[in-house]
Order: sequence, then C-alpha cells, then structure tokens
Amino acid sequence: MGAAGFLFCSPTFVVAFLLALSSLWVDFPRVSTGNGPVTRHYKFDIILKNVTRLCRTKSIVTVNGKFPGPRIVAREGDRVLLTVVNHVPNNISLHWHGIRQLQSGWADGPSYITQCPIQTNQSYVYNFTITGQRGTLFWHAHISWLRATLYGPLIILPKHNDSYPFAKPHEEVPIMFGEWWNVDPEAVISEALRTGNGPNVSDAYTINGLPGPLYNCSRKDTFRLKVEPGKTYLLRLINAAVNDELFFSIANHTLTTVEADAVYVKPFKTNVLLIAPGQTTSVLLKTKPHYPNATFLMLARPYFTGMGTFDNSTVAGILEYSTTLSSPSSSIPVRNRPLFRPVLPRIGDILFVENFNSKFRSLASAKFPAKVPQTVEKRFFFTVGQGTIPCPKNQTCQGPNNRTKFAASFNNMSFVLPSIALLQTHFFGQYSEFYSTDFPTFPLHPFNYTGTPPNNTNVRNGTKVVVLPFNTSVELVMQDTSILGCESHPLHLHGFNFFVVGQGFGNFDANRDPSSFNIVNPVERNTVGVPSGGWVAIRFLADNPGVWLMHCHFDIHLSWGLRMAWIVQDGKLPNQKLPPPPSDLPKC
Ligand code: C2O
Repeated sequence: MGAAGFLFCSPTFVVAFLLALSSLWVDFPRVSTGNGPVTRHYKFDIILKNVTRLCRTKSIVTVNGKFPGPRIVAREGDRVLLTVVNHVPNNISLHWHGIRQLQSGWADGPSYITQCPIQTNQSYVYNFTITGQRGTLFWHAHISWLRATLYGPLIILPKHNDSYPFAKPHEEVPIMFGEWWNVDPEAVISEALRTGNGPNVSDAYTINGLPGPLYNCSRKDTFRLKVEPGKTYLLRLINAAVNDELFFSIANHTLTTVEADAVYVKPFKTNVLLIAPGQTTSVLLKTKPHYPNATFLMLARPYFTGMGTFDNSTVAGILEYSTTLSSPSSSIPVRNRPLFRPVLPRIGDILFVENFNSKFRSLASAKFPAKVPQTVEKRFFFTVGQGTIPCPKNQTCQGPNNRTKFAASFNNMSFVLPSIALLQTHFFGQYSEFYSTDFPTFPLHPFNYTGTPPNNTNVRNGTKVVVLPFNTSVELVMQDTSILGCESHPLHLHGFNFFVVGQGFGNFDANRDPSSFNIVNPVERNTVGVPSGGWVAIRFLADNPGVWLMHCHFDIHLSWGLRMAWIVQDGKLPNQKLPPPPSDLPKC
C-alpha cells in the first residue's frame, strides 16, 4: 500500500487509567446431561426489568428478567426448542449466533431476513439441531439495537462420550463483554438515524453485565473470578458489545487460546486477546501453582482505528485466589493484597491486531479436519466501508459536511430491509416484488480503496441479493475503504463457517496475493475482522439452502446498511432442501 493509504487510515491514540475494586461473584450453575442426543426445552419470556448500573435505574428489555440473559447449554447433536414469548412493546427476534442452522433457516432469527419479528403478545418456537459444532457461541436479539440488553451464552459441549482436545478444565466460566448506555439504546439509534450523525457512545463496558471499579459507583458491580491455585479454568469469552472490538488481558497470567467461534484451534499462548463483536474465543487459564499474596485485574477496552467518537473507557474484573483452610496462615487478607494490572496494546494498535489474528490455525487433524474448499467456483470482491446519503429535502442533517447522513455499504450498495422476511418471499417464489438478484459481485466503479477517497461518497440503496446454486464453492475478498476513514469491520456470515485464507494491508492484488493463501489449515470462523486499511479473503461451501444475512457486527454499521444476503438454492436430494416454514412463523 502506498504512503497515501496510511495518511487516510491513520490510527487513534488514547490512554486509559485506573482506580480500585470490590465484591459480588456471579455464579453459573453446572449442567447435568443425558447420554445420547436429547431435546432441550427453553422458555424465554421477553419482559421489562428495572436494572441499576452506574447509580441509575432504568427499565431494560430482558429474557426472563435476567441481565445478561440466561445461558443455553446443549451437547453437539442435541435439538433445541426455544419458546420465545414477547411481553414488551418492541418487536423482537432472537438469533443463535454461529449456529449453522442446517436446513433450519426458519430458526436463524434476523428480522426481515429469515422471519418477521415476534410482535407484542405473540410467540415463536425456534427449533434447531446442533450438528458438527462444539464450543462457545451466544444468542442475541436481531432487530434494531435490542441486543444491547438481550444476549446470553450458548454453550455447546462435546458429545457425551467425546472429550475436549485439551485437558479437562477444573471449571468453565463464561465471560461476556457488553456495552451499557445510561439512556435507552433504542433512542440512541433512532436519534442517529434521524440526524444522520454518528450515535452517542456507551457509558460503560461490562463483564457479565458488571462495569467494575473503574466506573462511578460501580465497585459493588464488579465481576470476580474466584480461583484456586494449580488449576486450569476454561474461560468462554464472548464479545456481545454493540459497536466495539475489545482487547482483553489478565495481569500476570498467560492464556492459551483453544477455540474460536465454536471450532477448535491449534492452541497458542497469549497475554492479550482481541475479540470483535460477534466473536467468541475459549481460553485456558492456568492459575499459579501456589497462593499468590496478590489479586489481579482483568481489563478490557476498545481497539479502534476509525475517525468517529467511541467509548474509550475500561471495564475491570478481578481474578481472586480464594482463601480457604488450605491457604497459608501467613496470607494477607484479600483487601490488603497488592493489586496487579495488565498492560493493554494502545487503542489503534493495528500491528498487534494483525499479528494476533495471524496466530489462529485450524487443528486440521483426522478428527477435526479443515474442509477448506480447494477450488473456487464463484469469486466475489466486496468493498466494505462507510459512505453518505444526501440529506432529505426540508430536513437538516448532522452527518459529514452537515449536508448528508452517514451510511455504510458493501460495494456501495446500502441494504434496505424489506417489509416481509426475504426467506418467506424466496420460499414462496414472490421475490421480484421484494428484492432483486443483481447484487454487484465486484465494485461497479473501482478506485484506490485505501488511498484518496473519491469525491462522491454517496451510496446506493436497495434490497439486492446474490443467488448461489447449492454446493457452490465461494471465495470472497472483503476490502476496507478509506471513505470517511479506514476502520476495522467485524464481518459475520449467517448459516456458515468460513475459512480465513488470507489477509493483508492496502489494496488486494488479485494477481499477487492469492499465491500466499493458506488453504491447508486456515482458521474456521463465523466472524472475521476486515483489517483497517486492508483486506481479508474467505472461502466457504454453500451447502445450506436458505437466505443468509452477512453484515458488519458493529450495530451502527448494520443500521447504516452494511449488510447483504446470500440466497442458497435447494439441492436435488431431499436432505438438500429447505423444509417449509413452521406454522407459528411470525407474520409482518
Ligand atoms: Cu450476531 Cu446477524 O448476528
């Protein structure tokens, strides 16, 4: 990439600082399991609940009154039946993020893509079987910004007689990162869309719903991970934040990454992790062999390379060696112990991120092969980035130049949600009224993507999809653009895992770059960061009939239209067809 590229894509620097600590331990109940595959029933009542954080009490949308929401635990091969009843004024749909939904596309959940939302006093049963996946995922609302409070862990244990490809941990602990607004996040996004400006940023990050001691009056709301010495803990990290990628580290402890997006990876050690919204990562934490007379902070705060404002605060939790009868009598009481804090990379540390992401590899073993498509039938090249739409007449706008509104797009197409779910119109063959199948497979007007941006930054609006015959092998290169500033984009594909075969800085070079692709043991995921000022190449096999959303997992970019859909046609065999919709599928 040329020097100009760096000029338009220069990172931000911010420094964070600290305070102190306190109590409250969130416990996660253990799960009992049967022998073969079973059906697991869950009832999710969507209800309002008063919750107090940062000294303010507000009513939030929850599942069963819990924040974060309840966890779903199943084994590979199990069927999950989730009855969702909507008792709140908002329309709701829930998405089981990362579940492949093989032939169960009706249960995927994104509003207006696979279903109409569940209206007030209505219900819907999500019905799917977990096939060929094990590890950490999560569920979240998939309409507007309701996932700010509607999310929870989705844990897939190995089959009953299977084990982990690593030593059995002493304990497993979900660690969910979230974002907290003192105001209603729905008001934040509707205001942003009205004015065209960037949204107000969150007031805190949270670990398992708790902001921790670095925020106003939040000492009592601190996540504490109580451990014993000489043991191994499996931390199931989930980034459910709305708009922010996060660095995470625990002072004086090294973590071993063993799984990402419910696929095992070749273990590697690291002191700091980067986790993007939509990504999940399981790590092993080996505790010190003897009681340390100290406590250790775990910190998370953003990685950010864009030009807008963002919440640059820091969430802290505490790793605490619990005092038991066996601890030495000489030990210092917890509250007087020295406190260690980890060092995180600087906010815009692109090189750290590039290096960290390049450490992920598939196991590619006999038991867990990496089924990377070795040949490619269809190639796509999508630019990924921001843009503008002109300010509507008789309105004032606060977007770029105060004459526009912010937008975002793939290949300059900003996706407009239809009024009826795409999967329904596709299944019943009424597509022409609601969408067209001419989504641009390459940019219509190529430019120097990471250099000087073009003068006209306006996007086009439409509901366009790409249609793929069953079992097409796809290669997709996603290229960040410098329009309104380069930025990393966590791209999530519904219905599939993909292999990350290559990535780089600057503009993708179709002649040179493919020769360095890894098609032997690339990482397999459902969400990948398109590098800020760079590109990423993925491959997947379109073996799952249905309509599958692909989008940036920053909700603000999603709201601005950085989304599109793939339609995968039925195959010839009965087990290659999408079954008809369930009778309780919500109506629009
Ligand atoms: Cu986790 Cu479409 O998203």
